[in-house]
Amino acid sequence: MQVSGVIARRSLLTAALAMVLALFSFGASNRVGLDQLARRRGLRWGAAISVEALEQPDLVQLLLANVGSITPENAFKWAATEPRQGQLEWKAVDQLMQFARRHQLQLRGHTLVWHEQLPGWLTALPADVRAQALKAHITRLMQHTRGAVSSWDVINEPIDPEGKGLRDTIWLQTLGADYIGTVLQWARAADPQARLFINDYGLEGDDPQTLRKRRALLDLIDSLQRRQVPLDGIGLQAHLLAPPEGSPPFTTLPGFLKQLRQRGLLVEVTELDVSDREVNGTIATRDRQVAATYQAFLQAVLSEPALQRITSWGLSDRQTWLNRAFPRRDGQPQRPLPFDTRLQPKLALHQIDATIRRARSW
Ligand code: G3I
Repeated sequence: MQVSGVIARRSLLTAALAMVLALFSFGASNRVGLDQLARRRGLRWGAAISVEALEQPDLVQLLLANVGSITPENAFKWAATEPRQGQLEWKAVDQLMQFARRHQLQLRGHTLVWHEQLPGWLTALPADVRAQALKAHITRLMQHTRGAVSSWDVINEPIDPEGKGLRDTIWLQTLGADYIGTVLQWARAADPQARLFINDYGLEGDDPQTLRKRRALLDLIDSLQRRQVPLDGIGLQAHLLAPPEGSPPFTTLPGFLKQLRQRGLLVEVTELDVSDREVNGTIATRDRQVAATYQAFLQAVLSEPALQRITSWGLSDRQTWLNRAFPRRDGQPQRPLPFDTRLQPKLALHQIDATIRRARSW
């Protein structure tokens, strides 16, 4: 073989290789982000974010390439904003507001009235003083974030886990059975522009407990609407569980979302992730089951016109509450989100991408 011939062939090979790499990197770097894709379907894609994540430039870059809105994972919760009575902590709140403003991101408020992550000093107060403290907290936080927060999870997880009506919480005990009507009116008065949501989990599946929870939530909504209590939408947390095989059917979910639309309510998926703690086997097997669950869920919800936004509870497996709250029996870290700990796309992302592209636009 002529030397020149050899050199020519070698440079051809290098050029070809460069092309493949470029194609690959083009594919990766110019992949359409989740929010851009969702917007083609009249939707937005958001993600929960911790303040600590703002210190990770690669995570911030991934976030900005993929989301149109952010939800503070913990920074807006009462335990964080007023750890000691009267001592207000706005630093994290302001950091997230500035980040959203700088990058033209929508900001979801999470959450004003919840039975968890409450400051310790609150429980010691007499009920009437505690009620006044709650009103002051709602008013203060909504007015501090007014204009920056477009939607608020005013009440989080009010329905009894078994679906037996309202959950028995400190707020039910403090303000009585109509506490939800009361706090929604306080919220509307504090920021008339913000959309007010009730947010809960365990509303996605087809099992009897889920059907009972939905019934209890629809009864609550009907009683609020009969009394013209302001309520704009319902948030489905969608902390899903990947089955060991196949994918969950979500057969009854479209019908439930339709019932919410028929009540004039907006719908959001607010905390989407897919736990793989019940899937044994290789990473490939686990990722396949997680991806199949994302696909089945999105197929069930994307056909709903009242659906406004899908927020995943994080974007990468680098930060997920699941490893602390529901660790895998084999001690392996969970893989519940679209990107892995090195921020590389997973099968779940490709399934989400393909399912949104296939979805009918409105
Ligand atoms: O801030 C303290 C820190 O000072 C302390 O050193 C550390 C030691 O444990 O704890 C830190 O607080 C933790 C907080 O997250 C902030 O990281 C709490 O222990 C921990 O319980 C808390 O977990 C959060 C959980 O809500 C609390 O219930 C998760 O990050 C958060 O993802 C999770 O989010 C909830 C939604 O708000 C509502 N729906 C369910 C969802 C998952 O539980």
